[in-house]
Order: sequence, then structure tokens, then C-alpha cells
Amino acid sequence: MPDALHTKKNVSLKPYHTFGLDVMANEFKEVHTLDQIRDAIKHLRDKPFMILGGGSNVLFTGDYEGLILKNNIKGNEVVHETADHVFLKAFSGENWHELVLYCVHHKWGGIENLSLIPGTVGAAPMQNIGAYGVELEKVFISLEALNLETLELEEFHTEQCEFGYRESVFKRKLKGKYFIYSVTLRLDKEPVIHAEYGDIKTVLAEKGIDWNTARIADISEAVIQIRQSKLPDPKEIGNSGSFFKNPVVDVAHFNLLKTQFPDIRGFEQYNGIKVPAAWLIEQCGWKGKRVGHTGSHAKQALVLVNYGGATGNEIWQLARDIIDSVFIKFAIKLEPEVNII
Ligand code: EPU
Repeated sequence: MPDALHTKKNVSLKPYHTFGLDVMANEFKEVHTLDQIRDAIKHLRDKPFMILGGGSNVLFTGDYEGLILKNNIKGNEVVHETADHVFLKAFSGENWHELVLYCVHHKWGGIENLSLIPGTVGAAPMQNIGAYGVELEKVFISLEALNLETLELEEFHTEQCEFGYRESVFKRKLKGKYFIYSVTLRLDKEPVIHAEYGDIKTVLAEKGIDWNTARIADISEAVIQIRQSKLPDPKEIGNSGSFFKNPVVDVAHFNLLKTQFPDIRGFEQYNGIKVPAAWLIEQCGWKGKRVGHTGSHAKQALVLVNYGGATGNEIWQLARDIIDSVFIKFAIKLEPEVNII
């Protein structure tokens, strides 16, 4: 079948991203293999293009005038095994949470704290996803990425990925230059439990489970329960998880803020103090506030939502108003975690 038949014109992106905005893509194509991506890119003729995974970390501020390639490259395989570890290679179009459940089912530990994070496997290293005390880099071994210029597959190990807090080289100097094709993780056959963060121990205790003897399935279930209690389900209320990153300020700045705002909390990072953005936003009066079709979520101020019928610009305007008011009150400039298109 000629390639053009697989490319659809004027497609609504509403089902393909979690903000649920009614924006259109000029052209749209689902890809199932690496060669289909290579082929589509070869025939672009200078047209802009974007490879979309789960669409859970993107805000479209208008229609997309170019080609959207929807990544449907699926599957996973054990590529190596030792007495203690399983090395699992997963393809980038796989749903992240399904991969977590697959590992929990096989009793392979390492990513259970990352349960229910929306999005695809390919997006996970892009922003070094993290939650409840665990970041992807902890289990990451390598990835294969397609160089979008040469169309050759290249391998990246941990060091080359330059992981940071919600950061990697693919969001910085290699932004837009590579497509992540597969990710290999090292999982533990004898899992180590991470229950220190947030409410995990409390939720386990409510279920009569001592965290010392908890199984990874218990951790996964606790994380799912906590996330579901705070974060809106994108199928019901459009959102993209945390809209902003937690800002990192220097110690002097933090100490000054502490004198003015004694309740402020900070967590030491190698390069400063990480301050909860949700707290800053809440202090500026945004939590639970509705502005037109959008607003900051009532249970987690960091999450901006589409109550239905919002436009991308409306959400972006709210985000900028929040950035301004946090800056005026705290002299801290919030940065979006979400990619603004
Ligand atoms: N807080 C408030 N107001 C709120 C919510 C939280 O003041 O409305 C304060 C609380 O005091 C809490 C602190 O903020 O101690 C941190 O809150 P929480 O544990 O909910 O985490 P977060 O820093 O807001 C991060 C990730 C989330 C992840 C959680 C749990 C970022 C940008 N976000 O949020 O990730 O689920 O930790 O580990 O780092 C995502 O990236 O989309 C995401 C949801």
C-alpha cells in the first residue's frame, strides 16, 4: 500500500494527548517500526514533524502545522540475566505503567515506585521520570536512539544521558535531534523496598502491612492509591501531571525566604535547595482556583487542568500568571516541566 494512504490529513489530536485539547494536526501517521519512522522522515521535504508518545507531557498552544508521528513501537524482551538481575529491553511505544505492572507481576523490582506515571517508555529517560523517592536513572542501563539526521541507531549509556532532576541530554543539547527507540533497565530479582517517601508507609500500615516485609506489589498498589487520591485522571479531567518543575534555589536565597516564610520547606540537592512548587503556588492563592475552563487542581496545586473546552493558550496564560505571581512573592522563576508546542 502506498505510504501516502497511511498518512491522514487534518486529524484531531484530542485522543492523543492528556490535556484533551481540541487541536488539529495537519498530517498524522501511526508508526509501528523503526523503518516506518525512517521512511516518514526521508519523505518530509522540510515539513516540521513531531514524534508523539503518550502525549502526557505536552501542551499544544494551537494546531500543529506539520506531521505528527504517533509512536506505536511495542514489545519488550529479556536481553540478559544473572543470578541477581534481569536486563529488560522495552520498546519506546510501550505504555510505561503497563511495563511497571509486567515487572511487578514477574517480581522484578526497581520501578514499582514509578507506578501509574502516564506516558510511554520512550519518554521515561527523556525527563528521567521520578516519583516516591525513585528516579529512572537508578535502574537505567542504556537506550537506543535514532539520530534524526543520519537515521542511524546509536546507543547511549547512563553517563551520556546526563540525567538530572527531570532532565537529560535529550531535553538540553540534543533536544529534537534523537528519537528514543528502546530502553534497557536492570531489575532486581531480590527487590529492595523504597517506602521512605511521602505517605507510602502510612498507606501500607492502613492495610496492615509492615513496610519491612512489603512486597513490590504492595508498594505499587500503595503508590497507585496515593496518586489516584491526589492526581486527576486525565480521562475525566484533562491534565499533564505536574505542570512545573520543583525549582532549585541557592542556600542564601532559601535562608532569606525562610526568615520571611518560616513554613517554607526545602530539600537539599547537589546544587542547591529544591522547594516544592506546589507549596509556592498554593501560597499565592492558586490552589483549587478556577479561571475560565482551566485552573490549578484542588488536591495538587502543581497540576493545571482542562475542565473541558479550554484552549492551549488559556492554559498557557494561566501558567504564565502563576509564574508571575510566584516570582513577585518569592523571587523564584518557575519553569514548566511540560513541553510547550
Ligand atoms: N504541597 C503543597 N500543596 C499542594 C501539594 C503539595 O504545599 O497542593 C507540598 C507538600 O508539602 C509536599 C510537597 O509539596 O510535601 C511535595 O508534594 P508531593 O509529594 O505531592 O510532590 P511534588 O513535589 O508536588 C513530585 C513530582 C510528581 C510526583 C510526586 C511524588 C515533580 C515536578 N513532580 O511532585 O510527579 O508524582 O513528586 O513523588 O517533581 C509529574 O511529574 O507529572 C508528577 C506527578
